[in-house]
Amino acid sequence: MNSHIPVLMKEAVDGLKIIPNGIYVDATFGRGGHTKEILNRLGPSGHLVAIDRDPDAIKHASNINDSRLQVHHAKFSSLPSLLKEKSIPKINGLLIDLGVSSPQVEDKNRGFSFLKNGPLDMRMDPTTGESLLSWLKKANSSEIQNVLSVFGEERFSKSIANEICKVIKNNNANGKNKLKTTADLAELITKIYRLKGKNNQNLKHPATKSFQAFRIYINNEIDELIFLLEKIPEIVVTHGRVSIISFHSIEDRIVKKKMNPSNKSVSRSDRMTSKQYAFISDIKYIKEPLLPKIKQIKRVLPSHEEIKVNRRARSAVLRVGELARDFEYLENPKNQKNK
Ligand SMILES: C[S@@+](CC[C@H](N)C(=O)[O-])C[C@H]1O[C@@H](n2cnc3c(N)ncnc32)[C@H](O)[C@@H]1O
Repeated sequence: MNSHIPVLMKEAVDGLKIIPNGIYVDATFGRGGHTKEILNRLGPSGHLVAIDRDPDAIKHASNINDSRLQVHHAKFSSLPSLLKEKSIPKINGLLIDLGVSSPQVEDKNRGFSFLKNGPLDMRMDPTTGESLLSWLKKANSSEIQNVLSVFGEERFSKSIANEICKVIKNNNANGKNKLKTTADLAELITKIYRLKGKNNQNLKHPATKSFQAFRIYINNEIDELIFLLEKIPEIVVTHGRVSIISFHSIEDRIVKKKMNPSNKSVSRSDRMTSKQYAFISDIKYIKEPLLPKIKQIKRVLPSHEEIKVNRRARSAVLRVGELARDFEYLENPKNQKNK
């Protein structure tokens, strides 16, 4: 099954304020929902670069026949070097729709889902890196616990980690306990919940948090996001737009922080006196350009209607930001408040 319903598609693409002849990047092509919407709004001389680290996503991109679109199999952390290779100095806007696509989750062979029995893999790009099973075989209990508690906020992280290590040691024995597939892992976690006297109380599968935590770790998702956010001022033009859709509170906190730096870091008085500020604002020619900042334009949550037709949307948060020079950022007193 290859369907993926794009989340907050109109809102995220509206946020880019598309210039018809601009150059845009969709950093997470998936099945191309956002890409198609960007293409709909671009003029004949506009360009769109779309990337995805999943080779399956790239295969599907061949269904879109449009000379304005270039598709690349790459991690989004390599976007700055990819743009350099393509001799694209700056882009007008960037869209990032984080997480996994429905076809990835629905394909049992990818190992993302506790509802479908498959290998413990979870790599978004199965051509490189380490599968979950191979990492679990090497990791010690405290490393596993750490991943479960940091990325999953899993309250039974210690017990689950200990049990994983115990069972993995016996994997080659003929006993009943083994840990080779997603069903084995889901069963192990459910057993721990049962032992703790917690049985599906809030209707969430007990393995939800652990599976999400392992996926984030195996794909280095947080580092990928932080790296790309840091590079945005280098690759997006001043006043260019970024639309970022997150599905996890850690990701959204990182995006929020990047778009709403604390009062302290942007406050004019912390950095310069008002006289110095007036002087800087008056300078017509600045040799060393001031570092651009991303200022948040808006935060959008999916409507009840969208959540009704697409359950994936329920945890989505879209933040739209605009690249602004430091002094422009400071000129607007609204930006000095932490929204
Ligand atoms: C939520 S889906 C995107 C769906 C897409 N917007 C659509 O409408 O079809 C996320 C996609 O981003 C890809 N992805 C996640 N992290 C990535 C990264 N660091 N670099 C490149 N692609 C990534 C995943 O493989 C997945 O295909």
